[in-house]
Amino acid sequence: MERRSAERRAWPRGPAHLLVLCALLAACEATGPEPPGQEAPRVPLREVAAQREVRIGIGAAAGRYFGATTGLGVKYNQVLAREFNVLTPENDMKHERLQPSRGVFDFTRADAMVEFAEQQGMKVRGHTLVWHNQNASWLADRSWTAEEAAALLDEHVTTVVGRYRGRVAAWDVVNEAVDDRGVLRPTPWAGGAGRSYIEQAFRAARAADPDALLFYNDYSLEWPGPKQDSVFALLRDLRERGVPVDGIGFQGHFEVGGGTPSRHALRVAFDRFAALGLRVHVTELDIRVPVPATAGSLQTQAQNYRDVFEVCAQTPACDMVVTWGFTDLDSWVPGHFPGKGAALLFDASIEPKPAYWAVHDLLSGM
Ligand code: XIL
Repeated sequence: MERRSAERRAWPRGPAHLLVLCALLAACEATGPEPPGQEAPRVPLREVAAQREVRIGIGAAAGRYFGATTGLGVKYNQVLAREFNVLTPENDMKHERLQPSRGVFDFTRADAMVEFAEQQGMKVRGHTLVWHNQNASWLADRSWTAEEAAALLDEHVTTVVGRYRGRVAAWDVVNEAVDDRGVLRPTPWAGGAGRSYIEQAFRAARAADPDALLFYNDYSLEWPGPKQDSVFALLRDLRERGVPVDGIGFQGHFEVGGGTPSRHALRVAFDRFAALGLRVHVTELDIRVPVPATAGSLQTQAQNYRDVFEVCAQTPACDMVVTWGFTDLDSWVPGHFPGKGAALLFDASIEPKPAYWAVHDLLSGM
């Protein structure tokens, strides 16, 4: 993955290449590129990307079916390995999972994911070290002095990043530090003090693995406004002071149609942060639709997905798009956005949706 072509490739050339693909695979209906049957062969996304020397990684978050050996779980793990070249643990590297009791770490599932990724030739995006959510209750349910919090942060970041030294390509070091108004959120990691914990987290992560890329990750940065401005100012300040922050993660939890930023807005947002010398990753892409989904909403969703991948591919600083899950069988969306769902590239039977084919078509045309 992330193979760089000597020069940027031309953008989609229309459907001619699909006809060739269809002829080769004998798997497409006359009306389009979609294989008609469950078992129809297709060139996986990561293969298309490799063949075309697409320089963006295509990843997915691995959730509760990871490692499952029965029923659809088998297909889940096969498709995860076959289609993607980046893996992010959806929940298994969060504080509550890794350090459920103070000073007691449990790396069982995180280890399994990192090993799986290595076996399958996938990079790992580590998510996430310092966040105000999904912290173990021993940490979250009481207050800490600034000194105590700093020691806890150091221990957690050093232990986790150190364990995977050389094996995790990029870490979401700090997640969602500011709220929608652009104001710093309360978090146990601050120990009642200001924002120095952010800088401390990046420095500890760099010391624990000098080769890992270190990201600030957040949502709603794709639109202009107080939140984007605030995070921009935060990162500019960190960069100016030599704090080791390498990249900005745009989570990308969108809603179909008007709830997905325009290509223009995305481009402006990516470029704004790239101008600070930051790499850009789209880290948690999903595009929810009102359920039940309609053919029309899934077509619009397909175009929205294509737009995000295309703007990333056209932005020199952007070299990874990770979706938050990959199948509607296992997605956080229905649980968090009532009445919404069907947000991913594969349906609940782990069959490709129009959005999958839109991304496939885009990559094929690169
Ligand atoms: C979500 C997971 O997908 C859910 O399974 C969990 O219950 C809550 O967290 N921003 C983030 C992710 O950075 O860690 C969140 O993941 C989604 C929003």
